[in-house]
Amino acid sequence: MVKRMLLDLKNIYKNYGKEPMIVPVLKDVSLQVNEGDYIAIMGPSGSGKTTLMNIIGCLDRMSDGTYLFDNEDISKMNDNALSDLRLHKIGFVFQNFNLLSAETAQENVALPLIYAGVSKEERKERAQDALNKVGLGERVSFKPNQLSGGQKQRVAIARAIINNPKILLADEPTGALDQASGKQVMELFQSLNDEGVTIIMITHDANVASHAKKTLHIIDGEIIENKQGGTI
Ligand SMILES: Nc1ncnc2c1ncn2[C@@H]1O[C@H](COP(=O)(O)OP(=O)(O)OP(=O)(O)O)[C@@H](O)[C@H]1O
Ligand SMILES: [Mg+2]
Repeated sequence: MVKRMLLDLKNIYKNYGKEPMIVPVLKDVSLQVNEGDYIAIMGPSGSGKTTLMNIIGCLDRMSDGTYLFDNEDISKMNDNALSDLRLHKIGFVFQNFNLLSAETAQENVALPLIYAGVSKEERKERAQDALNKVGLGERVSFKPNQLSGGQKQRVAIARAIINNPKILLADEPTGALDQASGKQVMELFQSLNDEGVTIIMITHDANVASHAKKTLHIIDGEIIENKQGGTI
């Protein structure tokens, strides 16, 4: 089966700061991601993992290089086009969930649909479906402080997939969770990937990384190892 390329990053550089205090963070990073891939990114603290993820997620711009997302040249898109792309094509999951504490699980999950202009009735229905999918159909009206860490992360995952994104980007999704909750999150990622969702996940934990089909190692801003593993 021929796989369709989703992301094509070539010779990416990212510097922070300005002359004469330029800090090079990413150095000549190239990466191709096909639809259906499940990639883990590992590497020491400060090696540039989140920086790379922010570029992949179109939250930050690269200093040099070319990046095609779904055949579209990111460097030619303005900020509005980029936020539109993020809204419809990318789901984000963070270590600390980033849920709105005053809103219920359902309201948190439905938030991207408000930006997408979806009617209130449809929002409610789709949020319920997404929460059912992550096993929290009974918790729709719970607020984040009434949920466990693992449950909060599953609400965040429901929010990330509500717009049927092309790709799920997760930065240390199990970093704040105990082992059992982390395992549930990994099972959820596995079933999403089985359904065809492309996933890139940063982790410090080799056990967590072993769930991915492929692990990239980044050291001092460079991809130094490209290890194939698991079953494809
Ligand atoms: N906004 C910024 N301005 C200046 N330097 C930055 C900025 N963001 C990150 N850096 C620097 O870039 C380097 C890489 O940071 P990054 O957050 O990508 O690392 P990381 O691999 O995600 O680390 P960790 O595992 O600790 O999350 C660090 O040296 C950091 O200080
Ligand atoms: Mg990081």
